[in-house]
Amino acid sequence: MSLFSKKPDYFLGIDFGARSIKAVELEFIKNKSRLVNYGWVNLDGTQEAIDLTSSAESERLQAALASLLQSFKPKSNSVTVSIPSFNGLVLMVDFPIMSEIELAEAIKLESRKYIPAPMEDVNISWEIVKNAQPVKPGMMKVVLVAAPKSEVNYYNNLFLGAGMSVDALELEPFALVRSLIGKDKGKFIIVDIGAKTTSLSLIEGGAVYVNRSLNVGGVNITNAISSSLQIPFTEALQLKESGENFFAGGRNINFDSIKYIAGEIKRIVNSRNGDTLDAVILCGGTARLTGIDGVLSQMTGLRVIIGNPWSHVTYDSSVAQNLEQSTGPAFAVAVGLAERGIEELKSQ
Ligand SMILES: Nc1ncnc2c1ncn2[C@@H]1O[C@H](COP(=O)(O)OP(=O)(O)OP(=O)(O)O)[C@@H](O)[C@H]1O
Ligand SMILES: [Mg+2]
Repeated sequence: MSLFSKKPDYFLGIDFGARSIKAVELEFIKNKSRLVNYGWVNLDGTQEAIDLTSSAESERLQAALASLLQSFKPKSNSVTVSIPSFNGLVLMVDFPIMSEIELAEAIKLESRKYIPAPMEDVNISWEIVKNAQPVKPGMMKVVLVAAPKSEVNYYNNLFLGAGMSVDALELEPFALVRSLIGKDKGKFIIVDIGAKTTSLSLIEGGAVYVNRSLNVGGVNITNAISSSLQIPFTEALQLKESGENFFAGGRNINFDSIKYIAGEIKRIVNSRNGDTLDAVILCGGTARLTGIDGVLSQMTGLRVIIGNPWSHVTYDSSVAQNLEQSTGPAFAVAVGLAERGIEELKSQ
């Protein structure tokens, strides 16, 4: 291997969230993904989340990334990065069956129809969905992904400053399919409840059919605890993360944000013949809130499980306890990002 080429043996994924930046590095060994390292850095001072879109926060983000990389010491010098789903657009479009070259041309001509932004401002990538049921014979399904170029440039520059390059930029739902669903061909709704945002994705046969973002997350839950119990925000945050079960009946807190999420899950189910849904899979830091799976199951009447992104990654028993206790479903995006390179390697 040349001294200057990227080391293909290691795969680094970094997830920028409103609460924290999370990093996972994997290697592909003996036909398995093996954990090399994981880490995170919280972006909060006394607050629970920052506004990633604000330019004032940009320097803070850069400093946080630098400190994460310094302690993490990744072996890879390139990275797959996620873009929060509210910044991108995923569309499932029907095209007549044609070659990939023809399709590339057709998409160039037709994406204007589907994407409500000037074409010069967005990066468009696409993929033919294999195994999908066509709307009629002779047609195929294609997933189109549009990401703002400003976002692409922003992350390129951020990593360039750290002496690294961005291999790929990916929308969160695609990473989540890799880490939480894998080869399962069933029908699932993945619900990623972060600090500020909740993203819901309907997955069928491993493809993302619907993706929706809601402006609610753990911060709303902390606020509800704080105002209901009349305690300061930081105390409410601590209490929330302590493992306390707020749904057990002792405290009567009205979590409007959870009702909102349940309502949106039901809307997706109703719009997509959901009686065949296998499960709702929860992830994101807020999936660690004790009892949230039970309460969402009660509200929706659906099977709700908590996703474990480490289930098909091997790791040393010495890190197991720490890994499972301190990360859990919050690392689902980062694991899926790191797995992207492994997927590419396998398909070569
Ligand atoms: N043990 C816990 N119990 C309850 N909530 C928790 C726990 N651990 C973390 N959280 C909550 O999870 C949220 C952070 O989740 P996550 O790391 O997925 O967010 P993020 O990706 O940084 O943010 P976003 O996806 O909104 O940009 C915070 O609101 C935090 O309080
Ligand atoms: Mg997140």
